[in-house]
Amino acid sequence: MIKEGNTVHLKGKKNSFFIKVEKDKIFSTHKGNIDLNQLIGKKFGDIIQTHTGEKFFVLKPTLFEIIMYGIKRQTQIIYPKDSAFITLKLGITDGMKVLESGVGSAALTIVMANAVKPTGKIYAFEREEKYIKQAYENLKLANLDKFVEIKHQSLEEKLPEDFFDTGFIDVREPWLYIENIKNSLKNGAAIGFLVPTTNQVSMTLTALKEHNFLDLEVVELLERHYKPVPDRLRPEDRMVAHTGYLIFAKKGF
Ligand SMILES: C[S@@+](CC[C@H](N)C(=O)[O-])C[C@H]1O[C@@H](n2cnc3c(N)ncnc32)[C@H](O)[C@@H]1O
Repeated sequence: MIKEGNTVHLKGKKNSFFIKVEKDKIFSTHKGNIDLNQLIGKKFGDIIQTHTGEKFFVLKPTLFEIIMYGIKRQTQIIYPKDSAFITLKLGITDGMKVLESGVGSAALTIVMANAVKPTGKIYAFEREEKYIKQAYENLKLANLDKFVEIKHQSLEEKLPEDFFDTGFIDVREPWLYIENIKNSLKNGAAIGFLVPTTNQVSMTLTALKEHNFLDLEVVELLERHYKPVPDRLRPEDRMVAHTGYLIFAKKGF
């Protein structure tokens, strides 16, 4: 049953909308208005109509859809092709205490929070206060805000010691904070980084080596879409050719 506060995917023939169900609210589309009261008590898969009779399926949005089409982007985000890999690579699972910085739009936070629930937590450190409110809104859209604590704190400031099971860092100059990050991790804990340029990769690797991190790896993931035409199957003409380089390591001695 759909309740107030749920996020739904309204899927029409050509349009999709991702909205939070609120009482006594009207959602306007160019195909007509939708009285959101009519969503309450519906089941996923049911059909609703706008005041002009346009039909929409009421679907349960996937986290992929929430990240790609639902959340408000206030910074560059980590895309699902990378965040899904990061989460598996770091072995993030229920009960873990995970370090994250920065939070940005919380796109990665959503994926990691989903993996640590119900008993783990993401401890996310964000330097810019102006991003934090929307990051929480984005987490609420995914119904994962209770598994995340966002602190308005720079990675320059001391982190809790020997505390995190793993972590992921998406800031411009991660090499400046390697000592602080290392001290915050438990022995042997895995840590990951995303940086967009190769010179940032080199700076990060140098700092990781200086601080005796083990199992260093650098990887880039490419995603290529195809035109879904059975008798003329070929790649799309355009692709997102570059998002970022991923670096992984483990805390050493
Ligand atoms: C690219 S955004 C992160 C995007 C995020 N991973 C996502 O998927 O939505 C980088 C963030 O790092 C924050 N940041 C940069 N330097 C920082 C630092 N030293 N400590 C904490 N946050 C920092 C920025 O304010 C920005 O919000």
